[in-house]
Amino acid sequence: MAQMLDIALPKGRLGETAYDILRRAGYGCPQLEEGGRRLVFENPECGVRYFWVKPSDVAIYVERGAADLGIVGRDILMEYKPDVYELRDLEIGRCRMAVAGKKGFRDNMDRTLRVATKFPAIAARHYARKSREIDVIKLNGSIELAPLLGMSDVIVDIVETGKTLRENGLEPLEDILQISARLIANRVSYRFKHAEVMALSAAVAERIGK
Ligand code: PRP
Repeated sequence: MAQMLDIALPKGRLGETAYDILRRAGYGCPQLEEGGRRLVFENPECGVRYFWVKPSDVAIYVERGAADLGIVGRDILMEYKPDVYELRDLEIGRCRMAVAGKKGFRDNMDRTLRVATKFPAIAARHYARKSREIDVIKLNGSIELAPLLGMSDVIVDIVETGKTLRENGLEPLEDILQISARLIANRVSYRFKHAEVMALSAAVAERIGK
């Protein structure tokens, strides 16, 4: 008998787009489409149970086996390096991680560079490769404020349209990585629910034309 698949979806627009792919791939869940404040939804007919989690927590649920599968941005995978399988690039949620600073910013090599970011590991690796000494200031949002208030010299952040940077007088200085959403699997689920995981992954691939 087929086993149920537990799937962690990132709350927000990315999760909704990802769910739409899953629905069209034959894994719909009418309960979930009703909206409201519930966090867990299931459709035993298709063998799926979904739950909405904070986007940066998806990989934790999957790594610890609370979810068999999850949808997560490559930024999160590169930051936390969770021990999970990356099954597929869903080619949605495309954006990039970039260094940005005030217009006309020039790095002064005599001083430690102050870098504000939600992604301290990515920032640290980026500057270690260049042997540039930095002071990482870890923030949880509204990163663009840090250089405006003189708290940091630059930021390492996600750029999608570039609108947030522009409207705050900042400009991209350097790209660090290209980002898109990935379908990930728990390592144990991948072995013990292999047929179900592969069936879902193949159905999704067909939907996104791969
Ligand atoms: C992200 C990112 C930028 C913005 C980029 O912020 O941190 O602020 O989106 O998008 P844009 O290039 O299209 O303007 P998010 O909305 O996730 O909020 P937060 O980082 O402030 O929490």
